[in-house]
Amino acid sequence: MRKTFTLGLGLLLIGVSIGQKHPDWVKKAIFYQIYPSSFQDNDGDGIGDLKGIQSRLDYIQSLGVNAIWLNPVFKSAFKDGGYDVIDFYQVDPRFGTNSTLVALAREIHRRGMHIVLDLVAGHSSNQSAWFKESMEADTNLQYSNYYIWPNFKPSDLTPQESTRWVETNAPRGKYYVKNFYDVQPALNYGFANPNPNHPWEQSVDAPGPQAVRRELQGIITFWLEKGIDGFRVDLAASLVKNDPDKKATIALWKNLNQWFDEKFPQGVLIAEWFNPKQSLEAGFDIDFLRTGRLTSAYERGQKAAAKVYFSKLGEGSISDWVSYFKDQYESTINKGYVSLPTGNHDSPRMMNEERKDPAEAKVLLTFLLTQPGVPFIYYGDEIGMRYIPNSPDVEGSHARSGTRTPMQWDGTKNAGFSSADTSRIYIPEDPDPKRPTVTKEEKEPGSQLNYVRALLKLRGSSNALGNLGGWQLLSDTTQPYPMIYLRSNDIEKYVIAINPSGKPVQAKIASLQRKKTAYVLGTTDKCRYKMSNEGDMIIMPAISAAIFRIE
Ligand code: GLC
Repeated sequence: MRKTFTLGLGLLLIGVSIGQKHPDWVKKAIFYQIYPSSFQDNDGDGIGDLKGIQSRLDYIQSLGVNAIWLNPVFKSAFKDGGYDVIDFYQVDPRFGTNSTLVALAREIHRRGMHIVLDLVAGHSSNQSAWFKESMEADTNLQYSNYYIWPNFKPSDLTPQESTRWVETNAPRGKYYVKNFYDVQPALNYGFANPNPNHPWEQSVDAPGPQAVRRELQGIITFWLEKGIDGFRVDLAASLVKNDPDKKATIALWKNLNQWFDEKFPQGVLIAEWFNPKQSLEAGFDIDFLRTGRLTSAYERGQKAAAKVYFSKLGEGSISDWVSYFKDQYESTINKGYVSLPTGNHDSPRMMNEERKDPAEAKVLLTFLLTQPGVPFIYYGDEIGMRYIPNSPDVEGSHARSGTRTPMQWDGTKNAGFSSADTSRIYIPEDPDPKRPTVTKEEKEPGSQLNYVRALLKLRGSSNALGNLGGWQLLSDTTQPYPMIYLRSNDIEKYVIAINPSGKPVQAKIASLQRKKTAYVLGTTDKCRYKMSNEGDMIIMPAISAAIFRIE
């Protein structure tokens, strides 16, 4: 049975209802993402661990977040930072033991928070017992069909498919199919339309793919029964092969999500899919949107740098973003949540060569933390840790190491991350002597850290600004600075104005026909909202952001 409740309705507002299938706590969830090797080292080996995370829960909670997502903590060969899992049922000794994880989850729950792990559903390490058995010539073993073993390479493979074929001298066959690195053989969830001339292409209903599905259910059950609240599912869209329209992958997840919702009604599954229209249709609770087109030249190609919206140059546009966002948001309103994360372990941090000024970061954070859907803060973004170019390649990180440098806690050795000799630190700390730290920012009332806390406090205090409040663009996409939008329900209205550009700007919007406006939070109270019957006017200094309550 599904109950539905409805929040904002009305002319200007977009009504939001969310089926019972999403756990209640997600309505108010705000996530903090932790890359476990880089957050806090407790045992002094230079690598972060679970006890380290536990020792920092006061800090995490002080931000105003109430849920934590940990990147993989399972036994791994660490050729891709833990995304090459050897044993899905075992915490890697570098992080602790299964009992340490259970203790951490218990402590997180005691604080009224939730904990989500990372489910690497699509592949394992080539060193897993499953893959080793699957390599054997005998095809009737328990794990024989957990992987895909083509015996020849068809000539009509697309160049992209072709890169997934790894040649091997395993007794089992000439090739296996991988997902990411060679050491990450793809698990066999079957093919959307098996080609009869390709005997390795099994249907999704074949015994091998069905056994893999059951294994996935087993992994989920194992951890949920230990008190974990759910998973972020790595590469969720990639499971069924040769599935260009994702129909078969969506069907697979629909089935799994239905089972999950019945068995664990308070559990959450978050997709790494980057297409909420598909993933929420597939039954996931949350999916991410890529914000790079708005925030980063890295994702647009360096030549387009000048055109980034969140840049002092003020030469960007929002029409691209608005049509992408609006489409994803409006098509998924009753189905689940979208998330615009501040960053993650795969992309350059928001503070990087393109964006160095903390004032700019505050503007961007105002935007990200006043969006509908579930916010995700990547550890360190709250203090303005920067992307460190040319950080050494560690455990398959390549350039991603610049985004995975250790958390900067204080002014002591290794920024308080670890007591180990500096030469043993997982990835070198930001070498800048003026690097931001938690202790420094705790003391400055106007710091980025305290600004994030204020934003989250305000968000937590208002359903209109929260995960289910409505969203509507008020400004004109042909005049992109400032960007102005409404967050509302039938009780409250907030107008948010964002001016990343280095110039003062102003814009007229249709009158909201209300009596009063109040500046409640922002980068400067010099931002102004003037009401009139002919239309309302918003006036913004250079590089500023403001949240106005409309009464
Ligand atoms: C996802 C992860 C990334 C990993 C890849 C392969 O994209 O976020 O870190 O390398 O999957 O598992």
